[in-house]
Amino acid sequence: MTRRKFLYYAAGLSAVGATALYARGMMGGVMGERGMEPSGMGAGMMGSNTLGAVNNFFNPLHIPPEIKGELRGGVRHYDFDIQEGYREFIRGLNTPTYGINGNYLGPTIRLKQGEEVSLNWQNNLGEATTMHGHGMHVPAIMDGGVHQIIEPGTKWSARYKVNQKACTNWYHPHMMGKTAEHVLMGLGGMIFIDDDESLNHPLPKRYGVDDIPLVIQDRSFASDGSFIYNKNMMTVMHGYHGDTLLVNGTVAPYLEVEANLLRLRLLNASNARVYNFAVAGVKNRLIASDNSFLERAESVGSVVLSPAERVEVVVDLRRVFAKKLYLVDRESGAKVLEIRVNKRAQVRSAIPSKLTTLETINLRKVAKKRRFVLETRGPGRLLINRKRMDPKRVDERIKVGEYEIWEVKNAPMGMGMMKMGMTHNFHMHAGHFRVIARDGSKRKVLPWERGYKDTVRLGVGERVTLLVKHSGYTDSQNPYMYHCHILEHEDAGMMGQFTVEDG
Ligand code: C2O
Ligand code: CU
Ligand code: CU
Repeated sequence: MTRRKFLYYAAGLSAVGATALYARGMMGGVMGERGMEPSGMGAGMMGSNTLGAVNNFFNPLHIPPEIKGELRGGVRHYDFDIQEGYREFIRGLNTPTYGINGNYLGPTIRLKQGEEVSLNWQNNLGEATTMHGHGMHVPAIMDGGVHQIIEPGTKWSARYKVNQKACTNWYHPHMMGKTAEHVLMGLGGMIFIDDDESLNHPLPKRYGVDDIPLVIQDRSFASDGSFIYNKNMMTVMHGYHGDTLLVNGTVAPYLEVEANLLRLRLLNASNARVYNFAVAGVKNRLIASDNSFLERAESVGSVVLSPAERVEVVVDLRRVFAKKLYLVDRESGAKVLEIRVNKRAQVRSAIPSKLTTLETINLRKVAKKRRFVLETRGPGRLLINRKRMDPKRVDERIKVGEYEIWEVKNAPMGMGMMKMGMTHNFHMHAGHFRVIARDGSKRKVLPWERGYKDTVRLGVGERVTLLVKHSGYTDSQNPYMYHCHILEHEDAGMMGQFTVEDG
């Protein structure tokens, strides 16, 4: 394997390659009025403000193929080939990539609640990896976390009964110390779970037509087309930030749709970037958070998504025929996707007034409280409760079926009034939680935090209160993980393990 995967630059040069590309005009119309903002410090340093603006959207949005599996002996089998390849993101340049059943990202996996499934992953890479079902409620040995390693040339199957509400999950590698690189290279994809309720809703549900997967990532390209991955202390601290947006692996994407209701399933699959999404010019109706519908749709101005968070938003385009709208990121000011409303409506859809019923929050049943402090204690020392991830250590043992409060804090660095630090988030495997409060206040819980969730954003100094209950599977030997989903932080060790055990 002499094939070069990334261009590793010395400290502080990450924006340079792409800038050269823009200057030579190789990215077509990508160069916009804001132009590039090459920062001498590297994109990671400047956080969100280094995205090149796009004003000419000239590539049709790639819609990942949908895979529905094949019934064999009462089990629905899904077969995957994790492979190396090349993708032409930029005209005339081949970027070395990883992909699943293709050269970048993978298919959308369609699951149905109640079905026995087997997800069969064949690793044809030159290196070991894992494949984790993010948001999936599965036994620990089927989780695809750091312990279920798939050696090169071997196969690993996650076999389980789909046992959760309709939602939008995703899959990605979880290899210790390698997750950021494997995801960056292109490993990942969406999982759509249906249940009887979701299938009976009049919501838009024609895949790729009015129900659109949007995997949003940021990347930087070197002049030879390879991804730039600036693996220095700055990147570890701030997380990787690219200067070019990809949606489903498409640069400068447009999507042609009906003048109808349009459902967008947004997944922030970026290593570290936080977005603030909105479809500008129309009402955005939020219908789902990470692991469930909201009980009722809610109008939102925009939605802040940290890495691995998902939402479903429905926009009404019935009166905007022959117009162009944009999905924008209000955080960076960049346009993300051009939506061309140029087809007549083919079906009638609607948002039902009641989307689902969630379990009532009852804090009186809480049996235990745990605290998690996410903290930077020196360069590259990213810890939870002052510990670095150790795959041989179980940090928390949880009793099945018990309600717990998890209080998670992003402890600032420095002293006194100066709150310095960085955004983190907190992801818990195996199930979902409810966000009860942010900084002790119920009112600070955001609209997209009111459904079931598995990942929650933590600004500098912030604290969230989560109601947790693990039900179903117990295993005192095999742990699940919790961690910051900024992949460079996770890889640096901002992660811990828990088991779910019989009472
Ligand atoms: Cu999305 Cu532990 O992962
Ligand atoms: Cu996960
Ligand atoms: Cu973090």
